[in-house]
Amino acid sequence: MAKVKTLYLCQSCGYESQRWMGRCPDCGEWNTFVEEVKTKKTSKGVSATLSQKPLALNQIQITEEARISTGMPELDRVLGGGIVQGSLILVGGDPGIGKSTLLLQICQQIGKKNHTVLYVSGEESMHQVKMRADRLCVDTSKLLLLTETNVDIIEKVIHEIKPEIVIIDSIQTVFQPEVSSAPGSVSQVREATSTLMRLAKGLSISILIVGHVTKEGSIAGPRVLEHMVDTVLYFEGERHISFRILRAVKNRFGSTNEIGVFEMSGQGLKEVANPSELMLSGRPIGEAGSIVTCSMEGTRPMLIEIQALVSPTTFGMPRRTATGIDYNRVVLLMAVLEKKIGMQLANYDSYVNLAGGIKIAEPALDLGVIVAIASSYRNQAIDPHVVVFGEVGLTGEIRGVTMAEKRIVEAEKMGFTKCILPEANKKNLMTSNKIQLYGVSNVNNVLDIIRR
Ligand code: TYD
Ligand code: MG
Repeated sequence: MAKVKTLYLCQSCGYESQRWMGRCPDCGEWNTFVEEVKTKKTSKGVSATLSQKPLALNQIQITEEARISTGMPELDRVLGGGIVQGSLILVGGDPGIGKSTLLLQICQQIGKKNHTVLYVSGEESMHQVKMRADRLCVDTSKLLLLTETNVDIIEKVIHEIKPEIVIIDSIQTVFQPEVSSAPGSVSQVREATSTLMRLAKGLSISILIVGHVTKEGSIAGPRVLEHMVDTVLYFEGERHISFRILRAVKNRFGSTNEIGVFEMSGQGLKEVANPSELMLSGRPIGEAGSIVTCSMEGTRPMLIEIQALVSPTTFGMPRRTATGIDYNRVVLLMAVLEKKIGMQLANYDSYVNLAGGIKIAEPALDLGVIVAIASSYRNQAIDPHVVVFGEVGLTGEIRGVTMAEKRIVEAEKMGFTKCILPEANKKNLMTSNKIQLYGVSNVNNVLDIIRR
């Protein structure tokens, strides 16, 4: 009898090893190796025949890639203008965040434009999908449902009905019968995705794949998947907060710095056209420790409230926490406040929070964090009509940020009357706005202005 060859595969990055290891030498994750049976690859008739000649760059004709609009401008923008024909799109996110809801919702508009959609569900029964579709008012006859997890059968069905768009919900449930490991393992996910990719490119069908994210925040078998697909979208948000952000992490047909903002309602996901308004709703007025800043998400400005609470510590060691913003960045900014301003923060616990459950890693938020901490420490409320942004350096200097103009316009639109911004940005501003601008070059200046 032929000996069965087993291998250990890292479930996080797909690294192969002959023996079990506690830590993956490739991605550094702990305890991710799982035994899987190696299958013999049969290279089906791939012989080295010359099928294509190299072409000179100027001989290549560009054809506008055909895109199908999803009927949701927020989603279209993240995709770079719609679903490109023949592309493989991965939609990742925590379980229960709304991936199935979003994909089912877009079927209505796509169906209205006379495109056939095949929705393959491996997680829910037809009955459950139908119930959800009713709730979302999806009733197009161009939507075909299939509950199947065998990739070979899915392939056959696709060949038969030739839909324009296929939705696979989710990649962790489908399996390739030749691969003996369990559905959801790296080998299965990889094999199933490569089959789907072949289908997408060969038949020029757009395939959207749902991928659940593991506790650590990556899609199971993630990096292997991210390399293979054309576009990776992540659906972010807290389950108990109703708004969701859709972010492109990789996009072969568009920019990756666009986001889409949605709100989960009783009738599915609703687009949020003005995220600033949503982020600032419920903001406390006249309370110390709250300040509004402007962050850029791609080319889109978004006003965000930063809150800080600084209170005397009851233990020997002060606590510092940061929610929605990089912890190390907050610690660094507090050190700047201690050294450059002389605030005695060593005896204070401090908590910094971005209101609304959003996560942002942009240096332009630095100044907001500084102001919020100072405001809470001094117990001084800041004028609610003030907006601040700017990057803070280690010497307490304030450095310019990108797209200052857009941030100012957004603040003005939302009714703010004063804006504290880096001097470097103020110098270069072309237009004159109604909003009052205060250029600052170091942290001391800022604290002087807000005290007034
Ligand atoms: P779902 O799309 O099933 O999540 P995923 O596919 O990412 O696992 O989203 C399910 C959640 O959304 C569930 O907790 C209920 C909520 N929801 C609503 O609030 N309103 C709705 O209209 C629908 C369909 C779902
Ligand atoms: Mg789902």
